[in-house]
Amino acid sequence: MIFDVLSDLHFDAHFIDPVNTSKKQFQKKFDPLFRDKAGEVLIIAGDLGHFNDQIMLCLGWLKKLYYPEGEIVCVLGNHDYHLNARTKRDFETPRHRAQDLRDRINAQDGMHCLDGNIISIGDVKIGGCDSWYDDVFAKKYFPHTSKKYLMELWEKWMPDPLYMPDLEDYIAMSDSEKEKIDRIYRDVDIMVTHVNPSLNNNGAYERSEISNFYHFDGHRYLEEGNMKYWIFGHSHDKQHQFTQDGVTLITNALGSDYYDVKNARLMSFEITKEE
Ligand SMILES: [Fe+2]
Repeated sequence: MIFDVLSDLHFDAHFIDPVNTSKKQFQKKFDPLFRDKAGEVLIIAGDLGHFNDQIMLCLGWLKKLYYPEGEIVCVLGNHDYHLNARTKRDFETPRHRAQDLRDRINAQDGMHCLDGNIISIGDVKIGGCDSWYDDVFAKKYFPHTSKKYLMELWEKWMPDPLYMPDLEDYIAMSDSEKEKIDRIYRDVDIMVTHVNPSLNNNGAYERSEISNFYHFDGHRYLEEGNMKYWIFGHSHDKQHQFTQDGVTLITNALGSDYYDVKNARLMSFEITKEE
């Protein structure tokens, strides 16, 4: 079975009107990307956009146009929790917005939004959860960085404190997501999270204290788990693949600006199971 990989679609960065994205507009943007599509399943590692109605419309086009007989499997990213001036009127908290989106995706035929559960497609088991960054990356590479300075960087450089005002402690968020991974990591062929579980590979980006907010410490899952592939997003790396502890980690962002999309390519991998 062939699986296609994308992350960080950020639909609202490409289609300005947050409600009325037409089929024609969608095809203009996405047809080139899916021209050589080979897979039966599309895995999306989070950051779909800022507007749930638009995300559902776009996922609908994606499924209908490119995976009519296939499946779409996703997790949510930090941007899928954000409440902006428009959406904060519609949802009590960022978690309510994420839950609304997850429920709507899971109500569709052939669409799955993972939240610490495992689904089977054919005989391949896919598990995942949204995941969140912790502070283990900073502790490992910048051990003299104080917690106070790290929080200052977080508030200055990350959008999450501004658009998730109730997220006072990102470590607690990361811990509760890790509890979901704990329940499933031994039983899946493919794991999907928004954040990179490896502290060892920083992709195309220079390592800095700010990189802390793009990783969580998942070394135990990679060492002890039985997954063959781990798909993640968040960093906007493109067509990037590496291995750790026998697991192939893949990230492949569409991204949020013109140049991102121009350079985007679909990535695919195949899992064959013996009869
Ligand atoms: Fe993200």
